[in-house]
Amino acid sequence: MSKTYTVTAALPYANGPIHIGHLAGVYIPADIYVRYLRRNGKDVLFVCGSDEHGVPVTIRAKKEGVSVQEVVNRYHELIKSTFEKLDISFNIYDRTSSAHHHQNAQDFFLKLNKNNVFLEKQTEQFYDEEAGEFLADRYIIGQCPNCGNENAYGDQCEKCGSTLSPEELINPKSALSGAKPQKRLTKNWYLPLNEYESFLREWVLENHSNDWKANVTGQVKSWLDDGLKPRAMTRDLDWGIPVPLDEGTGKVLYVWFDAPIGYISATQKWAEEHGKDWKKYWQGNETELIHFIGKDNIVFHCIIFPVMLKAHGEYILPTNVPANEFLNLENDKISTSRNWAVWAHEFVEDLPGKQDVLRYVLTANLPENKDNNFTWKDFQLKNNSELVGILGNFFNRVMVLIQKYFDGKVPTKTKNYPELENLHDFPEDIGRYLENFEFRNALKELMNLARLGNQFLQSQEPWKKIKTDEEEVKNILAASLEIAAMLAQCAGPFLPNASEKMLQMLDLEVLSWQELKEKRSFFSQAHSLGEAQLLFDKIEDDMVTAQLQKLENTKKNNQMTNPNAEAEKEEINFDDFQKVDLRVGTILEAKAVEKADRLLELKVDTGLDVRTIVSGIAESFSPQEVVGKKCTVLVNLAPRKIKGITSQGMLLFTENKDGKLVFVNPDNEVPNGAGIA
Ligand code: 2FM
Ligand code: ZN
Repeated sequence: MSKTYTVTAALPYANGPIHIGHLAGVYIPADIYVRYLRRNGKDVLFVCGSDEHGVPVTIRAKKEGVSVQEVVNRYHELIKSTFEKLDISFNIYDRTSSAHHHQNAQDFFLKLNKNNVFLEKQTEQFYDEEAGEFLADRYIIGQCPNCGNENAYGDQCEKCGSTLSPEELINPKSALSGAKPQKRLTKNWYLPLNEYESFLREWVLENHSNDWKANVTGQVKSWLDDGLKPRAMTRDLDWGIPVPLDEGTGKVLYVWFDAPIGYISATQKWAEEHGKDWKKYWQGNETELIHFIGKDNIVFHCIIFPVMLKAHGEYILPTNVPANEFLNLENDKISTSRNWAVWAHEFVEDLPGKQDVLRYVLTANLPENKDNNFTWKDFQLKNNSELVGILGNFFNRVMVLIQKYFDGKVPTKTKNYPELENLHDFPEDIGRYLENFEFRNALKELMNLARLGNQFLQSQEPWKKIKTDEEEVKNILAASLEIAAMLAQCAGPFLPNASEKMLQMLDLEVLSWQELKEKRSFFSQAHSLGEAQLLFDKIEDDMVTAQLQKLENTKKNNQMTNPNAEAEKEEINFDDFQKVDLRVGTILEAKAVEKADRLLELKVDTGLDVRTIVSGIAESFSPQEVVGKKCTVLVNLAPRKIKGITSQGMLLFTENKDGKLVFVNPDNEVPNGAGIA
């Protein structure tokens, strides 16, 4: 292993909070890896930050009717504090709207421009004439050509995961106005990915086919086999980093151009604050660059960003890109728009002090090679039967027995047990798995160590032998304590809080991983243990029920926000609305219309007059039912002849969930003729 590591974790979009899918996909494995490297004495820099450009944040701001800056400020703070509460140990959590990142990304662009890397091309791009904006990436929605999803974005289909360009969408429409987009000519700066095909083939497919994950090389191969095309690195948008050319383009850098440069900007900021040389982490030949990402980011980290780094000429390339698949929740795809998620900031509020449990359960279920699932029942089970029942139980029994029999003083060991001879294989095996990005296997090994401890205690039964052979019990408990100490040490990367607590109880310092592999005994003779405290407590059914209820409520809300509801109509301005004259009225008379099953002829007191209105409500109401009803009347609708009767207005109705009409009626106390606005 080399000495210096730059570990990056995908910059989350600052358009919403993070959820357990993000944690399992990226941040928890990255944090375990980094904690392990640090224990190995490596010079590790762990960087992350908020991705504050791109269409997702602007769409959020538009939806909320607030400024984009307000949105990114809010989510940047929320995400940053959530990571802190979950003990994700970034050296720096930066943000891409900062001035230093703008400058750095612009310098990078200028350097590529100077190297004549870009193709400047005039192309026709989708344009929304109503909104007066070009429709980049997520501003355009249409049908996915691969899976038929009607709501695929111009850059990606979230249903089948394929990366798209706006031209590929079937029946594209503007996400801003719903309008059918027109094409307009515009100039952009393209990165000619096609020119780097042989470099990518050699670098990824030839050099890394054995040490990179198959899901990663597989995706890269399929991109290369499909043929790479030049990709625009600039956008006609008004939120982002301005393209730094004298001619004043009015354009911004593509978010996927600036975001990965954000890793470098964060490094520079950290280096400046800590008196370090940032170049060591990005340009040092001995440095390993590792990108932790989700599978939807593979193309950006294995093709586009490496091409940018290569074209720039001064940077190292990633050594590995351990991308994970996706995590589902209760057997359903996690979805921000359907609010189908366990939000990380809510988890830390709802289950205070349980961050290690979340780290444990997510690590045990990491979607390393295929999508995986999180359920609250499994969360409870893994806590109760593994953390409490195996790890906590073993550790606690050792502590309590030594307290009870030897007053908390570590007994002297005069005997070795053959079944415990290979204790130091555990840090060896766990380390090997971690270096291979096999986090689930590494965690399994940690739990095997706890299991070994339980089996040892169970087979030796010191509680029986204490009456007859105190010397033997000393040996048993001293040996058990060695297991407990190894467990406390090895748990560090996975369960940082529990590990710290265990080491405190054992009164031990954190040791390097190398020391663990060499260590034959953790205790000197005069060693006394600290106070025994409980490591994990049982999770009761009511906690699980409350969380499941929360999801149940989400489901109900989603059903109520009827997926079949008609799309919102075209926007109108206030003047348009002012033209509509709605009044409170009362139905005075009602009768059926001959040869028209659906129609009733009504006499309505509008407060202005009594007039005839023909209304298509006969399938929902009998004439008798409606007489005397208060109603809302559109009084200035142009008169229309219906079945020979002149109808002078319209009554307003809505529908209940069974499709039956329901009056939109004001309170009975409101007088006829009162305006509704
Ligand atoms: O997919 C995402 O959430 C992106 N915001 C990840 C960016 S990673 C990096 F390149 F900045
Ligand atoms: Zn699709």
